[in-house]
Amino acid sequence: MTSEAEQFEKIPCISYENSSEACRVLAVEVASLIRQRQASSKHAVLGLATGSTPVPFYRELIHLHKKEGLSFQNVITFNLDEYFGLEPQHRESYYRFMREQLFDHVDLPDSQINIPPGTVSREQVFRACRDYEAKIEEAGGIDLQILGIGRTGHIGFNEPGSAQDSPTRMITLDKVTREDAARDFLGIDHVPRFALTMGVGTIMRARRIALMAWGENKADIVAKAVEGEVTDAISASFLQLHDNAQFLLDAGAASSLTRNQHPWLVGSVDWTDELIRRAVTWLSRKLNKPVLKLLDEDYNEHGMSDLLTDCGPAYQLNIRIFNELQHTISGWPGGKPDEDDRYRPERALPFHKRSLILAPEPSDELRAMGGTIDRLIEQGHTVDVVFLTSGNLGVGDDAAERFAEVLKELANAQSAENWEAPVRYAGQLLGDLAAKGPFGQDNTTLRSIKSLVRRSEARHALRNCNLGEEHIHFLELPFYESGRYRRFKPGDNDVSALCDILTKLEPHQVYMTGSASDPSSVAGVCYRLFQTAMAQTAKEAWQDECWTWLYRSGEKPFASYEIDMAVPMSPGQLKSKLTAVSQYTQEEKSTGAREKAVAKYYDQLGLADYEAIEAFRRWAG
Ligand code: F6R
Repeated sequence: MTSEAEQFEKIPCISYENSSEACRVLAVEVASLIRQRQASSKHAVLGLATGSTPVPFYRELIHLHKKEGLSFQNVITFNLDEYFGLEPQHRESYYRFMREQLFDHVDLPDSQINIPPGTVSREQVFRACRDYEAKIEEAGGIDLQILGIGRTGHIGFNEPGSAQDSPTRMITLDKVTREDAARDFLGIDHVPRFALTMGVGTIMRARRIALMAWGENKADIVAKAVEGEVTDAISASFLQLHDNAQFLLDAGAASSLTRNQHPWLVGSVDWTDELIRRAVTWLSRKLNKPVLKLLDEDYNEHGMSDLLTDCGPAYQLNIRIFNELQHTISGWPGGKPDEDDRYRPERALPFHKRSLILAPEPSDELRAMGGTIDRLIEQGHTVDVVFLTSGNLGVGDDAAERFAEVLKELANAQSAENWEAPVRYAGQLLGDLAAKGPFGQDNTTLRSIKSLVRRSEARHALRNCNLGEEHIHFLELPFYESGRYRRFKPGDNDVSALCDILTKLEPHQVYMTGSASDPSSVAGVCYRLFQTAMAQTAKEAWQDECWTWLYRSGEKPFASYEIDMAVPMSPGQLKSKLTAVSQYTQEEKSTGAREKAVAKYYDQLGLADYEAIEAFRRWAG
């Protein structure tokens, strides 16, 4: 870190290219701590976290155990937290998580594992928490505490309002935290309201603290914790007061730190085209002035005098950026035929194009680019939508139940012999549903029914865009079918399925998402598979003519300077997009807020005032 960056960053942050690299470094540190202690016959005491963030780190530890003989015999662990009221065997309990993700794969003695007891009675909570603290003391305190960070800025489950010296205790989970867990629990109503957590004080007593964060969705809260005031509104900010805490970040999670977001405020910079665009749009928003009204003094007063020296005066720089932004706007996402395309985001030729839209889960495609799909089809391009996963994990039991009941009713009404099988099938489905209960694991039959529910929704939704069924493909990548949220293990089969469809369709344009997602999410996994598949098919001729456009669905939207193509929408187009999206009944209704926000941004920069915009960034490969 440069000393300039240190003015802003009050906790040392190391940013790695990706989470795997960060986890390797951290696992090596842990291994060396364990070995050092082994050499002097002592214990190493680790504080452990759950959630999606540490999963790749635990995989590294397991790898070191299996491949390099790292033993955990001398390790004592203390987990940060546990949901209150969940039995250890519940599929979402942190006890079970730790077993599945680490403990069952290494030689750590059971007697050295400690997890806050989620099943004690309310009357016993106080005492159990006090005992937990005492046990940490007895073990000699925590040598290394591993942390993730929640979107509320929580560490452990220390939600906003937690005091700096708070001990292990029972807390009420914040609404945002419960929403984030809703998918895992198959609906927010099933997410526990309370949890037991180590306190901020307990965490602060660890001798060393390593907090990990991945993906752009964590970027803003990371920046606040590291660069903002120390406040109980963001419990991770208390780590500024620890003398041996460190943040390990991937590029996405580090992206809102001042050194990355506004590097010109930190020191001298190499003014690349993208950086110039970023600086000018930032200044325009900060001063609440359209780009064309920025003055020389505005630039000088905000650390950009060298930019003026290179590219000024202001009016010249303003026009340059205004034009660049203007050129990102196009109602012709497949390129406009017979037109000069020098200043258009897409090439005019070839015309028509084969456009391939990859959706990690059903609904990603329409939420992010329903209007663009509409235009592509209307403008004569051949559009194929490929659903990479079935999305069956997002389908509630009630949808499967309704399906089974309709089937049963229908079959009963027929009474013909050939309806016996469907009746049996429906009966079995209902039986399976009852047997597993709300938290049980779906068996293959249930998952396949849920896939069908999702398929029919996808077909309905895309029918609104006049997309023929022959252009809808369901890839059902195996990593998803055999996995569960945040714990997927992609493999070669996934890559080859993706390579096959790319080779078969030979697209001129691919639309894809996931570059900014948490790497453990469905979109994050799919994005990495896509990168590998593109690399493996790099020599195929179609790739010479293929451009990839990234879109954002559930992730943090693109900032204005990241947008290379902005497809505007009229109120009518937005309305029909929202109608199409609403066919996806398993998910929250879309209000078009994201599309409207991008349009507003363009308007504020002084460009045209559209109702809504869908945004894309050209993939550099
Ligand atoms: C988990 C924990 C939490 C998580 C945080 C981030 O034991 O204490 O603070 O680290 O909620 O969760 P993920 O990693 O799922 O984004």
